[in-house]
Amino acid sequence: MTRITLIPGDGIGPSIVQAAIDVIAASGVQIEWDRQLAGMAAVEEVGDPLPDATLESIRSNRLCLKGPLTTPVGGGYRSVNVTLRQAFNLYANVRPAISFEGTETLFKNVNLLTVRENTEGLYAGIEHFIQVDGEKIAAESQAIVTRKGSERIIRYAFEYARKAKRKKVTLVHKANILKCTSGLFLEIGREIAKEYPDIGFDDRIIDACCMQLVMKPETFDVIVTTNLFGDILSDLAAGLIGGLGLTAGANIGTDAAIFEAVHGSAPDIADKGIANPSAMILAGVMMLEHLGEMGAARKIEAAVREVIREGKIVTPDIKKDSPYGTRDIAEAIIAKLKA
Ligand code: NAI
Ligand code: MG
Repeated sequence: MTRITLIPGDGIGPSIVQAAIDVIAASGVQIEWDRQLAGMAAVEEVGDPLPDATLESIRSNRLCLKGPLTTPVGGGYRSVNVTLRQAFNLYANVRPAISFEGTETLFKNVNLLTVRENTEGLYAGIEHFIQVDGEKIAAESQAIVTRKGSERIIRYAFEYARKAKRKKVTLVHKANILKCTSGLFLEIGREIAKEYPDIGFDDRIIDACCMQLVMKPETFDVIVTTNLFGDILSDLAAGLIGGLGLTAGANIGTDAAIFEAVHGSAPDIADKGIANPSAMILAGVMMLEHLGEMGAARKIEAAVREVIREGKIVTPDIKKDSPYGTRDIAEAIIAKLKA
């Protein structure tokens, strides 16, 4: 049986994570969940938002399904998400954005995937103030783009496209202005594209890409880009398909892979039992795909989509004033899987 680290997380985390593991169990895939603490739950229990036992567990299992974590404010803690990214070299952040029938969105035909480089670029953390007589007169930041890091992420995007039978990779950049950092990324993209004659390749400048994404999102398939552009584009793409409650992401690394919903711990609805578990369940789907459990992954995704399309048993974020909550949605999805 596959052993996977499970972090229930904070706020709505435990309820949506429970929904995800019940749905996965109903699909017939057997997993031995190794429950570990992180976030506020860990601060309260052991005084550390990311205990060594949790890191050890991810290191040995190499796979983790993670609920959202509340970032403790004021305690001087580092962000757990950043620490995990560095500890396991989680270089690829992958987010599908595929329209859901039954949701109110501007577009009905979005089917794209963003692959964001997650360790370099402007988020490398090399920045400082320049101070004169204690006054900040300027701030400087360095973007890091390495050949190795660029090849790794671009190749990941092409390999994913091939495996998922997608047709095109679009590289997003600003090489007209950032001639070195964005320029190198684009140059490497063009080289690697030649190794994948079966997959289309084009490139877009980030600003033009934003406009096209909100006018003709159906023209995009796989997007690969550097850290900052990817951070923004992946949220933009989530917005195109109906937002936070429906979007999952994978953080793929050399040493581990961590799957999570895109949203946070939603403290405003944490005790109400009304959180939409769909994003967390779809994070589970991405995890099953990663495990090669394609049959179960497709079955669960279809069940989630069917429940949302029917529009009857949905949470209030999908249909205002809906009386249904997290548990009802989970049960509705499980019923579809068993039908
Ligand atoms: P949030 O994503 O938790 O909530 C934003 C809004 O969306 C809220 O109104 C919330 O009720 C709603 N929402 C989020 N997920 C939902 C769901 N599944 N169903 C229905 N409604 C949902 O973002 P916020 O409030 O900025 O952050 C809260 C905490 O979560 C913070 O401590 C933040 O640091 C943390 N966070 C953690 C993340 C992670 O662990 N990956 C990601 C984002 C935020
Ligand atoms: Mg972001």
